Amino acid sequence: MIKIAPSILSADFGRLGEEVRAVDAAGADWIHLDVMDGHFVPNLTIGPDVVAAVRKVTNLTLDTHLMIENADAFIPAFAQAGADILSVHVEACDDLRSTIELIRKHNVKPAVVINPDTPLSAVTEVLADVEMLLVMSVHPGFGGQSFIESSVEKLRQARAFRQEKGLTFLIEVDGSIKIDNAGLAAQAGADVLVSGSGIFKTGDYGRTISSMRAAASTAGSERTAAAM
Ligand code: DX5
Ligand code: ZN
Repeated sequence: MIKIAPSILSADFGRLGEEVRAVDAAGADWIHLDVMDGHFVPNLTIGPDVVAAVRKVTNLTLDTHLMIENADAFIPAFAQAGADILSVHVEACDDLRSTIELIRKHNVKPAVVINPDTPLSAVTEVLADVEMLLVMSVHPGFGGQSFIESSVEKLRQARAFRQEKGLTFLIEVDGSIKIDNAGLAAQAGADVLVSGSGIFKTGDYGRTISSMRAAASTAGSERTAAAM
């Protein structure tokens, strides 16, 4: 079953509570929160207080994507704020393994993220220790960019690696996912689709999320049929 995680980066921040409630009611599985520090990426967004505010308006899994340097210093605050998943970039961590352990110590699920220019091989050693691999399909920093096609091959590699090693991490894709490429991403291996502008810039969140889910499920059944 595919999961859809609307990224609130493209929501109307002036009505954030309403926007979160709206995608929750529209059938979202998770809420994706993009944390940026102006150093690791050239943009500034939200911190733990906003995560805590979102926590108050939904029971959905808070999938918190840290695009920050020195993540270790902020993990306790994001855990306290109610994050369910904390994703950290391999490119931003000096000691990825110890950061993953720190996340677990705070009873949060750890995930690791790779940028479009980072090969899967950069994280294969930790994939047994995380709950999820996030494959970026845009360069992190902004919503509304164009989909980087090479990420499709990376999703396939990740799925093949997981199968070969008998691992169980989820595969998430983030960046320019829309109704028209949801099927492609799911067919390549994505279990979780993050979508910011692809959902929040449409008029009817319920209809968009259902169409995305339908596109991904059709691809999933083709995938199962192909494996038989
Ligand atoms: C980009 C963020 C994404 C972004 C996705 O740095 O990590 O989560 O919000 O937005 P869209 O779907 O518009 O590319
Ligand atoms: Zn993100």
